[in-house]
Amino acid sequence: MEIFVYHTPDQVPDTHSAARKGGLSLEPPDCAIVIDVLRATTTMATALESGAEAIQVFDDLDALFRISQRWPTERRLLAGERGGIKLEGFDLGNSPAECTPTRVSGKRLFMSTTNGTRALERVRCVPILLTAALTNRAAVVRYLLAQQPHTVWIVAAGWHGSFSLEDTICAGAIACALNAAQDNDCAGDDESIAAMALFERWQTRLPQLLRYAHHGRNLAALGCETDLDYCAQIDSVDIVPLQVEPGVLKAASLNLSTT
Ligand code: MLT
Repeated sequence: MEIFVYHTPDQVPDTHSAARKGGLSLEPPDCAIVIDVLRATTTMATALESGAEAIQVFDDLDALFRISQRWPTERRLLAGERGGIKLEGFDLGNSPAECTPTRVSGKRLFMSTTNGTRALERVRCVPILLTAALTNRAAVVRYLLAQQPHTVWIVAAGWHGSFSLEDTICAGAIACALNAAQDNDCAGDDESIAAMALFERWQTRLPQLLRYAHHGRNLAALGCETDLDYCAQIDSVDIVPLQVEPGVLKAASLNLSTT
């Protein structure tokens, strides 16, 4: 497996063009993993764990309203956030704590967030598209080991085009686990080696790192301390959100045999 880490969506090459990077051949990848630890991809995994039927993501709010109208009212929830704050008129914001089975089971979440949904848009055409967070890191790694994609792009959502500590550390957590499972035989670019070093340094202090992170401080100021602790719970959710049609994510089957 060859791993490429992108610290922000803007660094991701156009998936329609072939490029060269770090001496490794770079065709459009077999698999892309989008990460937004605080909090979009953590919330997606939790919603699916709580029995949501699917998450449909939108960059554009007009499209979200238009398309969600076609879904029966009792089976849809609008989830929207900008700058960490729930959008007016929406059923949910972007907190995993809101995604209880009572609230989301059997429902489709029509979701738009500041950075996470934009990052997904960037790699929408990749054949296997997953989302990852610290909480579902082990499930994502198990899925990758079973599928054995040749090239994997790990795309951190970042914050308004800038590097985010929490997303890059999650990329490092995935790369470390893949490396360990494959006898350190995973090829990675320089960014993935840096991400692994970050994870190795902080893996026992994830709640603290999330509080140092720029967006972690924003969320703490908004009173979302509980979310920070939840988002730092590594390997706690056994769900892999997988794109099944453009923009629609469902829980992948994890009854997989690894080779
Ligand atoms: C995002 O997409 O930028 C977020 O997930 C922000 C948040 O609600 O914490």
